[in-house]
Amino acid sequence: GCTFEEDGDLNQCEYSQGVEDDFEWELIRSYLLPHLTSDLPHGSYLMVNSSQHNPGQKAHILFQTLSENDTHCLQFSYFMYSRDGHSPGTLNVFVKVNGGPLGSVVWNVSGSHGRQWHQVELAVSMFWPNEYQVLFEAVISNERHGYLGLDDILLLNYPCSKAPHFSRLGDVEVNAGQNATFQCVAAGKASETERFLMQKQNGVVIPTVSVKHISHRRFLATFQLDQVSKGDQDLYRCVTQSSRGSGVSNFAELIVKEPPTPIAPPQLLRAGSTYLIIQLNTNSIIGDGPIVRKEIEYRMTSGPWSEVHAVNMQTYKLWHLDPDTEYEISVLLTRPGDGGTGKPGPPLISRTKCAEPMRAPKGLAFAEIQSRQLILQWEPLGYNLTRCHTYTVTLCYRYAVGTGHNQTFRECVKMEHSTNRYTIKNLLPYKNVHVKLILSNPEGRKEGKEMIFQTDEDVPGGIASESLTFTPLEDMIFLKWEEPVEPNGLITQYEISYQSIESSDPAVNVPGPRRTVSKLRNETYHVFSNLHPGTTYLFSVRARTGKGFGQTALTEITTNISAPSFDYGDIPSPLGESDSTITVLLRPAQGRGAPISTYQVIVEEDRPKKVKRELGGPECFPVPLTFDDAMSRGLVHYFGAELSPSSLTEARPFTVGDNQTYSGYWNPPLEPKKAYLIYFQAMSNLKGETRLNCIRIARKAACKESKRPLEVSQHSEEMGLILGICAGGLVVLIILLGAIIVVIRKG
Ligand SMILES: *[C@@H]1O[C@H](CO)[C@@H](O)[C@H](O)[C@H]1NC(C)=O
Ligand SMILES: *[C@@H]1O[C@H](CO)[C@@H](O)[C@H](O)[C@H]1NC(C)=O
Ligand SMILES: *[C@@H]1O[C@H](CO)[C@@H](O)[C@H](O)[C@H]1NC(C)=O
Ligand SMILES: *[C@@H]1O[C@H](CO)[C@@H](O)[C@H](O)[C@H]1NC(C)=O
Ligand SMILES: *[C@@H]1O[C@H](CO)[C@@H](O)[C@H](O)[C@H]1NC(C)=O
Ligand SMILES: *[C@@H]1O[C@H](CO)[C@@H](O)[C@H](O)[C@H]1NC(C)=O
Repeated sequence: GCTFEEDGDLNQCEYSQGVEDDFEWELIRSYLLPHLTSDLPHGSYLMVNSSQHNPGQKAHILFQTLSENDTHCLQFSYFMYSRDGHSPGTLNVFVKVNGGPLGSVVWNVSGSHGRQWHQVELAVSMFWPNEYQVLFEAVISNERHGYLGLDDILLLNYPCSKAPHFSRLGDVEVNAGQNATFQCVAAGKASETERFLMQKQNGVVIPTVSVKHISHRRFLATFQLDQVSKGDQDLYRCVTQSSRGSGVSNFAELIVKEPPTPIAPPQLLRAGSTYLIIQLNTNSIIGDGPIVRKEIEYRMTSGPWSEVHAVNMQTYKLWHLDPDTEYEISVLLTRPGDGGTGKPGPPLISRTKCAEPMRAPKGLAFAEIQSRQLILQWEPLGYNLTRCHTYTVTLCYRYAVGTGHNQTFRECVKMEHSTNRYTIKNLLPYKNVHVKLILSNPEGRKEGKEMIFQTDEDVPGGIASESLTFTPLEDMIFLKWEEPVEPNGLITQYEISYQSIESSDPAVNVPGPRRTVSKLRNETYHVFSNLHPGTTYLFSVRARTGKGFGQTALTEITTNISAPSFDYGDIPSPLGESDSTITVLLRPAQGRGAPISTYQVIVEEDRPKKVKRELGGPECFPVPLTFDDAMSRGLVHYFGAELSPSSLTEARPFTVGDNQTYSGYWNPPLEPKKAYLIYFQAMSNLKGETRLNCIRIARKAACKESKRPLEVSQHSEEMGLILGICAGGLVVLIILLGAIIVVIRKG
């Protein structure tokens, strides 16, 4: 040690003045200075006279370098005094390790501490082969008063009694970002005012977190560095401070390890629609090893979540991914220790392939059906169905346009992406339209079930005029038509309306009332009865569906003319009779369909053997025959008169046998001995067609039978028989006629 005395001890003292300071400590030997101020004690020691230096100026003294093998204690005494009580300056003690930087002050004192020496101990736990050097520094105060003294710097080979000794402080390795903890265990006596602190070799001082006694004279000081980074990597030591001394531990290293991160992104080996196979590509890393765990972190580029999978091999297959989706995959590497997982490496950005569509779009239904268009809709398509962001929805439809085999209209329309609605236009009414939806993407297509929609009915098309066929009779018309070429639905009925527009019968008022007939769908014909003969009717025929009537087909049909009719109830009694004449009442006949063109009076000899004329009826006398012609041809009847209609506008008597000539027909006197039948015949004529009707209006008996009334029963038995047969025939004829009418009505 250094006592600074003049005897042999001086050889043992190795100290040196600092070179990077402002002034030197002075060696004082009081016995050599008889006028030494009484402020200073006697003896030999190192001294600093504050008044001779400027504030802040420093003087260093370095004690010898120490490299001890055993516990030891470094002791020294200081003196700090100014008469007026001002501080002469500060005495700082540094422990410089292994020739390193000065570091922080391990002990210091300032102020005026009386005119006496104070003993201080330094317990430095630093051993061979490490070495350390103690440096004393005097710093001049602003007051520049008084003196600093330093004496008896001794190395003792036993523990300090006033400062605790630290156990060896171990190195601490920690991953960056974690908290680093140093635990300093000290043994010895700690005073009440003991300060614990941690020093970094570069000088920064870190205060303690906690100090606790672990047993008698042993205590534990814990220091923590929060979230260390590489910059915190340094040498650290524990220091205790009290006014009586300091304990100083060895420097331990804080090793901050950087968690590893791959330099390159993983490599894609193969991509499927739901998987990605990657190569981790972790041969080059940033940060520190060893790598104890590899993981893959992946997420959808657009998604909020991410997932981490541990990986054992160099390749890894990510399953259950969504098709056609971009993923970011990065590798996580982990080194030992808390927080040993490094930042994710650069990501591989890769997209899965599209997958086949899940199924075809469902829910194809109509939103609105009209007769010529269909508005269809279907479920909105989501990615979960299309399984690809690139897809097309095609709507295909077909319908028959004719009855033929290949007369089918087909069309496929590509839908807009976001739509789930489509209007098919220009359809035909009341048609089955087959519709299906096809969803396709680059990986496949799914075809939906074909659905059938029927367009609504529309009003039917017109009935073709050519399809109207008819058969005119006298007072009936049989009309037949065909279903419209475009029924446009289900024909519910046909409506035929008709009206007389023209008639050759002046008695018929034209135009007549309009009449309408409805027919069922399956009855495309009708018999129109009670018509006027010789009259032109305008027929209009139209079909009807639920939507209404279609266009009308028109045709004009003219009924045939009919034979004139007579207004005789029974055979009237003759107005008068002579031997050679008979006077009858002629009444004008009704023209039916055409006006009466001629009246004729026919005289027929009533021969009992001739049954021919007994019945009157339809067989009239179409061939004009004068009396002379009849005579010459041996016929029993002749035309006794022909009258113009203008001469018979009202009923008038006419005398048969008046020996006159009417329109070239001689009306000769009748032979009294003969019986005659008198017929009245009317004739109509229209466009070359002739209808005639005749009626027997009288019988003139032969003279021998005169005064006898006209009775059939008064003929001979033979006659009665003939009449009976005739009556029977008449009945049969009536029945036959009735039957014919029924047949015609039923069509
Ligand atoms: C200290 O310095 C002051 C001022 O220079 C001087 O007066 C005084 O005598 C010195 N003291 C000693 C012991 O030399
Ligand atoms: C400490 O021990 C080493 C090796 O045994 C020796 O070389 C060295 O001199 C010793 N130091 C002291 C101060 O005795
Ligand atoms: C010792 O030094 C420290 C820091 O260098 C300082 O905060 C403290 O006040 C000093 N103590 C004395 C007694 O001067
Ligand atoms: C698809 O997603 C929609 C909602 O986005 C959901 O309503 C629908 O049920 C899903 N379809 C399937 C097949 O999962
Ligand atoms: C037409 O159909 C109706 C029922 O719809 C039926 O009663 C009628 O007999 C049918 N007519 C013909 C001519 O088939
Ligand atoms: C009929 O008339 C003709 C001449 O017109 C006449 O000669 C004849 O005598 C007449 N007969 C009778 C019966 O009057």
